[in-house]
Amino acid sequence: MRNRRAALAAIAGAASLTLTLTACGQSGEGGSKEKTNDVKGATIGIAMPTKSSERWISDGENVVKDLEAKGYKTKLVYGEDDSATQVSQIENLITQGVKGLIVAAIDNKSLNNVLQEAADAHIPVISYDRLILGTENIDYYASFDNEKVGKLQGQYIVDKLGLSKGRKGPFNIELFAGSNDDNNTKYFFGGAMSVLQPYLDKKQLVVRSGQTALNKVTTLRWDGTTAQKRMEDILTSSYKTGRVDAVLSPYDGISIGILSALKSDGYGSADKPLPVITGQDAELASVKSITAGQQTQTVYKDLRKLAEVAATMVDDVLKGKKPEVNDTKTYDNGTKVVPAYLLQPVSVDKSNYKQVLVDGGYYTEADLK
Ligand code: GAL
Repeated sequence: MRNRRAALAAIAGAASLTLTLTACGQSGEGGSKEKTNDVKGATIGIAMPTKSSERWISDGENVVKDLEAKGYKTKLVYGEDDSATQVSQIENLITQGVKGLIVAAIDNKSLNNVLQEAADAHIPVISYDRLILGTENIDYYASFDNEKVGKLQGQYIVDKLGLSKGRKGPFNIELFAGSNDDNNTKYFFGGAMSVLQPYLDKKQLVVRSGQTALNKVTTLRWDGTTAQKRMEDILTSSYKTGRVDAVLSPYDGISIGILSALKSDGYGSADKPLPVITGQDAELASVKSITAGQQTQTVYKDLRKLAEVAATMVDDVLKGKKPEVNDTKTYDNGTKVVPAYLLQPVSVDKSNYKQVLVDGGYYTEADLK
């Protein structure tokens, strides 16, 4: 025991390692990889995708705060949307002797080798928000009901255009999806299309660009400028006459890019009003845009709760306790169905942002000024 501790401390280069290891090398679904009696003071590595989006900055801060409240130290890294950078960051965290990993992947298929290294070092891994694919070396998944996110976006468009109240249209809609290397993308798009497709079939909704297949509408790395460019191209090629009535956007950063393209094309005036435009994450810029009557909707996901779920999962696993999950069927990563805890998303627009976001303590009135 003493030798094992000494060896581990040496590998980790962590003279301050205070863990008392009681059993190592356990694996299997839901089981802890490394049972410890006392994990106080252990370091948890947190790998987030990018600082270019406000939400991931909040995610990082929230996870750190929750883990510190549970007595852990943390190392938080951001991969700046480059998957090779993220792989080497996780490698470094392993070398530095972290006892657990919380990972929001940049490219969901790029982490197999590095997560094998984590498994070899008996480090439990929580897949954060985005499911990591093709590896058995993740223990739990903390996320939201991602299909519901898409359904809320699709339903918002249908309701706002009046289609659900008997208006016939036809209305012009354009479709945007997230990054093709993010597992969430197909859930968001699939959820939205499950609501929109019947109206497309009846030609009450028309996609003039003809770009309806997922592989035609994805936006690499969720980049707003890429979306802006695609919207500009669509406006030029398909809307010399008439106008866009709705845009399905999966994420606020993309919505802001789309809005720029629309505004440059003269949208936002009385005779050319902005279309209904959805979003996700309730990022500050988008909530302000909603209150200013530009972006129409966003899907709020309480990141404080997501962080708490992920921090509790890693804490439980390290203490040899089974984390609470509420879904053991949906998230098959190609190697195994990953036990998940899924939180509920909420549709937010001008009519309920105060109640949901301000009364809910997510933003203050001053933040939104
Ligand atoms: C997704 C996430 C969304 C959004 C998007 C872009 O994985 O579920 O909420 O943040 O990434 O960052």
